[in-house]
Amino acid sequence: MKRLEKLYEGKAKVLYSTDNPDLLVQYFKDSATAFDGRKKGIIREKGILNNKISSRIFRYLESKGIKTHFVDMPSDREMVVKRLRIIPIEVVVRNIAAGSLSKRMGVDEGAPLKNTIIEFYYKSDPLGDPMINEYHIKAFGLAEKAELKQMEDSALKVNKYLSEFFDERGIILVDFKLEFGVHRGEVLLGDEITPDGCRLWDKETKEKMDKDRFRRDLGKVEEAYREVLKKVME
Ligand code: TMP
Ligand code: ASP
Repeated sequence: MKRLEKLYEGKAKVLYSTDNPDLLVQYFKDSATAFDGRKKGIIREKGILNNKISSRIFRYLESKGIKTHFVDMPSDREMVVKRLRIIPIEVVVRNIAAGSLSKRMGVDEGAPLKNTIIEFYYKSDPLGDPMINEYHIKAFGLAEKAELKQMEDSALKVNKYLSEFFDERGIILVDFKLEFGVHRGEVLLGDEITPDGCRLWDKETKEKMDKDRFRRDLGKVEEAYREVLKKVME
């Protein structure tokens, strides 16, 4: 699949058109950002590690019946995906309190939750991705009711399958962010599933194996991503 025109360059990936109007190439970069882009850096080989991790996870989710935009991984930094009309909502799923939830609710990171939490954020860098709810989504026409239902159903299934997947590999899936889009009338899981957008803790030591190592200057960032790749390939 040949890359043609650059369509969009994001913080961690570049999107290219291809000779097939239904397909795009997602190119994974090494750049890392946090706090709405205010913190910037490079994680060596992150693009390669994330492409491999995400491809493995999308293949696994597809095998469980989850519909994703994943088509193929033709090279270390390239993923062929179906072209989507992106729904401008970030869906965050939380199993354990951490990050912004711990701050907002004043609870320790690692505190258990009585149930899984789903949150929605409006995808807008200039606004800093504000949190929204179903009423905002409807009022601003960000997604159809049926689309929202499919996103929620898919997010909960992804959570169930991925929690099991990581648990078998000695990792706790604390929380994660998903993005969805529409392809030929169908809602598909898009973007990527990588340590950039998930919190992953070692089950035994509770050590962080995700982008919090970069956000909080904990060191050994590349090593943690490499360890996640090793585990997901088991
Ligand atoms: P938070 O605790 O900062 O709200 O993040 C929850 C999860 O969502 C965490 O796994 C990181 C992920 N996330 C992103 O991937 N992108 C974002 O812009 C934000 C705010 C969170
Ligand atoms: N990646 C996002 C940003 O750069 C937020 C984050 O993951 O912390 O703004």
